[in-house]
Amino acid sequence: MSTSKLAITAVIVVLIIALSQCVGTPDETTGPETLAAADVRGAGYIGAAACINCHKDIHTSYLATAHRNTSALPSIAAIKGSFEPGKNAFHYRSNVKVAMEQRSNGLFQVAYMNEQEKQAFPFGVVVGSGRKAQTYLYWYDDNVFQLPVSYSVWARNWVNSPSYPADKVRFDRLINVGCFECHGSYIERKGTQQEGERLVDYFDKSKIIYGLDCERCHGPAAKHVSFHTSHPEEKKPQHIALYRQLNRQQQTALCAQCHSGGHTTKNTIFYFKPGDSLTQYFSSPITTGGDVSQLDVHGNQYQLLSGSKCYIKSNSLTCSSCHNSHVQERENMAVFSQRCASCHNSVKHSFATQVSANVINNNCVDCHMPALPSRAITMKKEDKREADPNLVRTHFISNYPEATKQFIEKHNGN
Ligand code: HEC
Ligand code: HEC
Ligand code: HEC
Ligand code: HEC
Ligand code: HEC
Ligand code: HEC
Ligand code: HEC
Repeated sequence: MSTSKLAITAVIVVLIIALSQCVGTPDETTGPETLAAADVRGAGYIGAAACINCHKDIHTSYLATAHRNTSALPSIAAIKGSFEPGKNAFHYRSNVKVAMEQRSNGLFQVAYMNEQEKQAFPFGVVVGSGRKAQTYLYWYDDNVFQLPVSYSVWARNWVNSPSYPADKVRFDRLINVGCFECHGSYIERKGTQQEGERLVDYFDKSKIIYGLDCERCHGPAAKHVSFHTSHPEEKKPQHIALYRQLNRQQQTALCAQCHSGGHTTKNTIFYFKPGDSLTQYFSSPITTGGDVSQLDVHGNQYQLLSGSKCYIKSNSLTCSSCHNSHVQERENMAVFSQRCASCHNSVKHSFATQVSANVINNNCVDCHMPALPSRAITMKKEDKREADPNLVRTHFISNYPEATKQFIEKHNGN
């Protein structure tokens, strides 16, 4: 592996050279090839296309979900930011910018100093469905790095990528398998090496499955497909994990593998199956319950929810009590509020005379699960000195006096 070790050292040296020095564009790296017929995860898996014949409605509605689109090959359609001249640049300083450009050989982030091109790397992978933000990665041989500029939906503009300095163009944030494990269904690792301070993953970019597919949640389904294809008369599910037969811990673990923050893993979660427990994958256990005030709202839905009274006192609440994994239901407060009402059908609120029952019944969420600023996810806009936080719905279901006050002010008399 000494050649690849040399290679990555060389990449890093090249990449961190300041913009004052002219650096040539490296070899054009092509995007990942389309998948071969056999599923790259190995025996047992078959891919989402094989589900269409028998689960057409689910397959169709699922295409619009954030999970399905949480990573993708780059294209003008997949990238939420603009490539139009005038809207396609992020300025670090008056004479230093990165421009997003469509060239004959692909889509690029191009660093300029005094209008002179200094470095250009092609968009290789899009991370994020574009609900709130997207970040972009590029390939350098078998390694993956983050591009300097990301997109913020909330700012409706290009922003400096999280974890890069605000005043310099950098291309050197190495990306390991973690991003793909939560934002994708699979990427094959050729190897991992300790190189100096860091652990470096080498990938096979021909073996990648973007977005979360059906089997990422339901487990390997090749046998299920072949059985039902040859037994069309069988109406009971065979050779597939039965979600309703899992206990509550197992049901929430299925979501918590990605919704409980970052972890050191001892086994890759790409092969997490329904019924598995988190301790089979994570090196240390997750603490739930107790003081949740220190947890970031971003990504910690599992811990926050399991600290809530709804979860502790109900014995039956899981993520699926409120979320339908096959349908894009974002911000549909009326639908979510009906799900609250399945357990809380006769709440008497002290402010019931101030706001109409209809308004209250169609939005339990803004008062009991308000959107709060994330400490972890911040993005810096071009014209700001400080990065702004993203707002995330807290899953610690409780009473929030400030949110209630705002809600009543907004709807008073309606
Ligand atoms: C040839 C038909 C066929 C194909 C193809 C097929 N299934 Fe099914 N599947 C069924 C039948 C029949 C059932 C039982 C009735 C139902 O729930 O629709 C079922 C039920 C299921 C269930 C529900 C299990 C439960 O908890 O009740 C899941 C999950 C599932 N299939 C996943 C998949 C996935 C993922 C794919 C694609 C990889 C797939 N199926 C492809 C026929 C098929
Ligand atoms: C393999 C990792 C993974 C698993 C498993 C997973 N999620 Fe997610 N989930 C994500 C990621 C990543 C996002 C952010 C998607 C984006 O917008 O790019 C997300 C987003 C979401 C959202 C926001 C969707 C929206 O449109 O606003 C909800 C709700 C959600 N997940 C619920 C669940 C539930 C419920 C389960 C379990 C049934 C689950 N997730 C399992 C990784 C995962
Ligand atoms: C442990 C799982 C996990 C890992 C590892 C992870 N993410 Fe995420 N990421 C999530 C979840 C879950 C969300 C949605 C969180 C929410 O809204 O609270 C998310 C949200 C995002 C979003 C916003 C998506 C949108 O459309 O709003 C971006 C961009 C993102 N992650 C990029 C990355 C990158 C880049 C990496 C690797 C450096 C990474 N993530 C690693 C789980 C993960
Ligand atoms: C984020 C995780 C996730 C993904 C991705 C996912 N599912 Fe599901 N699916 C679930 C959960 C959770 C349930 C159980 C819902 C319940 O019973 O409350 C379920 C239930 C089902 C069922 C049986 C119940 C029903 O709604 O008919 C079928 C069939 C199914 N899924 C097929 C699919 C197919 C096909 C895909 C891909 C197109 C897919 N699922 C993608 C989480 C997921
Ligand atoms: C599966 C049933 C279930 C669902 C669904 C559910 N809850 Fe609860 N919730 C409970 C139970 C049980 C309690 C505890 C009641 C008690 O202590 O008497 C509770 C308690 C609460 C409390 C009091 C919290 C506190 O700390 O005092 C609030 C507020 C609440 N729920 C709001 C909601 C909202 C809003 C939703 C929908 C977003 C929701 N719940 C969905 C079962 C549920
Ligand atoms: C009591 C109902 C309820 C339960 C249970 C629940 N959620 Fe949510 N969740 C919501 C509501 C309401 C929203 C906000 C509506 C929206 O963003 O579309 C939300 C939003 C989210 C988001 C997007 C947050 C954001 O601001 O971007 C994620 C991710 C998520 N839920 C994951 C989960 C996971 C994982 C679980 C299980 C650990 C879970 N939820 C359990 C009601 C619930
Ligand atoms: C305007 C904000 C607001 C809205 C909207 C709202 N709540 Fe509340 N809720 C509160 C406050 C504040 C309390 C504390 C008690 C009070 O003031 O009545 C509370 C109390 C509760 C409690 C605990 C009651 C008890 O007896 O301990 C539950 C459960 C609850 N709400 C559920 C819901 C559900 C379900 C919805 C939607 C149908 C909803 N809330 C809509 C603000 C709100």
